[in-house]
Amino acid sequence: MAGGHEKVETNLALMALLILALVLVGGLVQIVPLFFQHSTTEPVEGLKPYNALQLAGRDVYIREGCYVCHSQMIRPFRAETERYGHYSVAGEFVYDHPFQWGSKRTGPDLARVGGRYSNEWHVAHLLNPRDVVPESIMPGYPWLAENPADPGDIRYRMQVLRRLGVPYSDEEIDGATKTLEGRTEMDAMVAYLQYLGTAIKTRR
Ligand code: HEC
Repeated sequence: MAGGHEKVETNLALMALLILALVLVGGLVQIVPLFFQHSTTEPVEGLKPYNALQLAGRDVYIREGCYVCHSQMIRPFRAETERYGHYSVAGEFVYDHPFQWGSKRTGPDLARVGGRYSNEWHVAHLLNPRDVVPESIMPGYPWLAENPADPGDIRYRMQVLRRLGVPYSDEEIDGATKTLEGRTEMDAMVAYLQYLGTAIKTRR
């Protein structure tokens, strides 16, 4: 089949077509099993869906673009696990729609920031990061302390998440609006941050 090989190597269109076929098949072989594998589709043991307050905080996190500077994905390298704790596993993110892995680390990874600091530290830090970390370049978010945590459509958002597979009970959804009453976006953000990565307990 020496002739056949030569034909492929000298015919650009044919070569491109065959490369495309190869990449497509290779991609499918790698990607499709992930949709069915337990370790990527089942929640890790003890993973709880975000409660209404944490979910509202997550929405503020997305609105404020925190993901532009912070990833939420610890890679399985020593340099990362020594600094942040256990590497991230797929089963921790099954209730995240969409997940907040991010791709830029101007600040530290936040995948396991839950429980690392006190609530008071987070409030002080979000109001003005330089009050607690003098060299910080993170912007302050003082308006979070004034804005009420928006209770408007939280129930509907939880209903949509339930349709996507998040196991919310009727009581949780019915009580969502009440949970946010009298709370600020700051309360919601801190509740969200304190939850991150706590399903896997690994803190030194
Ligand atoms: C311009 C980039 C930038 C943006 C945007 C940003 N941060 Fe940060 N963040 C940093 C930097 C840099 C640090 C490290 C210095 C410090 O602790 O302030 C940091 C630190 C943190 C820490 C402490 C992490 C640790 O392990 O010590 C938390 C929590 C945090 N940011 C949350 C947030 C939240 C929530 C938002 C959105 C409301 C946000 N950040 C937006 C840059 C940013």
